[in-house]
Amino acid sequence: MSNQPRHIAIIMDGNGRWAEAQGKSRTYGHERGAETVRAITTYCAQHKEIDRLTLYAFSTENWKRPKIEVEFLMKLLEKYLKNERATYLKNNIRFEPIGDLSIFSKSLRAVIDDVQKATQGCNGLVQCLALNYGGCDEIVRAANTLCQRGELISFDTLNAQLDCSHDVDLLIRTGGDQRLSNFLLWQSAYAELFFTKTLWPEFTADELEAIIKKFKTVERRFGGLN
Ligand code: FPP
Repeated sequence: MSNQPRHIAIIMDGNGRWAEAQGKSRTYGHERGAETVRAITTYCAQHKEIDRLTLYAFSTENWKRPKIEVEFLMKLLEKYLKNERATYLKNNIRFEPIGDLSIFSKSLRAVIDDVQKATQGCNGLVQCLALNYGGCDEIVRAANTLCQRGELISFDTLNAQLDCSHDVDLLIRTGGDQRLSNFLLWQSAYAELFFTKTLWPEFTADELEAIIKKFKTVERRFGGLN
């Protein structure tokens, strides 16, 4: 039987370069990137073999960017979630955030909370947005919670305490670089990694479909033998 890409995770890289290549501002690239988020989420929602799509929207390191870009991304996220609320419900998509949300503005947290609560009964695709997320930060927070409770750290206790307890099957990075950038480090232990030079605003459902086709042919051994 071929592999099923039940959990797809994507590092959406290349918005800035895509915009700059056409003489536009980096923020314009993020706006176009949000349209790709919509298109890829719709594709995944229509393919029942895909349970979960986790997208790296803002990392714990992205705060180092110029203030104007960070503020733009915060506003874009808020606008996106408000606009997409009805579409999540129509397409039976459950929205789940991961990351340390405590740092966000009250209004962004309120929208995140509202969309999460509104869609909690949806049982189709889970669209998970990684927001102020870092794999190292996630593991440290989970370990600290267990320590504070006086619980032993084992694979199962730590895994259950993470923001995301779902193994990644297929991890894609757009934009040409070949690194994980602190994304889903624990969950990607046995993920199949695919890197494409396509910049995120130009990534399409057709390219995702071609990657999934290749993924299905890979022999996954998880450290064992055939
Ligand atoms: C990396 O590309 C991208 C980000 C840090 C932000 C990702 C944001 C989006 C895709 C749009 C908003 C998201 C949602 C969910 C509405 P980069 O800007 O670092 O690209 P570069 O490497 O070309 O500079």
